Amino acid sequence: MIKGFVIRPMRLDDLDEVMEIERAVFPMPWSLSSYRYELTQNDKGYYLVARLKGEKAEGLLLGYGGFWLVQDEAHICTLAVRPGWRRKGLGELILISLLDWAVALGANVATLEVRISNRPAQKLYSKYGFKIVGRRKRYYANQEDALIMTAYGLTSPPFQGMLRERRKEIRSKLSRLKEER
Ligand SMILES: CC(C)(COP(=O)(O)OP(=O)(O)OC[C@H]1O[C@@H](n2cnc3c(N)ncnc32)[C@H](O)[C@@H]1OP(=O)(O)O)[C@@H](O)C(=O)NCCC(=O)NCCS
Repeated sequence: MIKGFVIRPMRLDDLDEVMEIERAVFPMPWSLSSYRYELTQNDKGYYLVARLKGEKAEGLLLGYGGFWLVQDEAHICTLAVRPGWRRKGLGELILISLLDWAVALGANVATLEVRISNRPAQKLYSKYGFKIVGRRKRYYANQEDALIMTAYGLTSPPFQGMLRERRKEIRSKLSRLKEER
């Protein structure tokens, strides 16, 4: 729980704002029907949103992320922060929340593909112990290669210790942000 922010599973009524960010952010956005399918039909798909917390109701959707869980492996399939809200710690908050959720569901490995040109995302994942373990040639529609980044031993004491530290840092970074607003 971080004061001023809500993190919770994505629902169908989040999808208008999710799609707004999705279209603004990704060169190959998922469609609304893909998200609907993921939320209603895919029992291996887990998605969450981060929102501002208002006085009475939830506020603006700031970002979201998701993973597919296959046995003990969480495949992070999306992560995005609303443009204008970047570099404030929200990407980390969402990633930590995804990892916590995946571990609670039995994951011990997290893996993902990231564009070779996407340095911000690669830096974020490296900060959380993801290592480059492979490359998929021409993975994306524009022929760009993907790097495969993987973090092992999510449940191990060193990884959990790292997450605890990062959670503390992000909590204080985001509470300062809330106070400044
Ligand atoms: C990647 C993304 C989710 C990061 O979100 P964010 O809220 O800006 O990230 P944070 O503020 O939590 O930053 C955490 C870390 O990410 C890295 N990072 C984020 N943006 C960066 C940038 N522009 N340049 C370099 N490093 C960056 C840094 O390591 C940073 O840690 P630091 O603050 O200690 O330097 C965001 O840039 C985004 O939505 N990008 C478009 C969608 C996307 O590429 N998703 C990933 C698909 S694989």
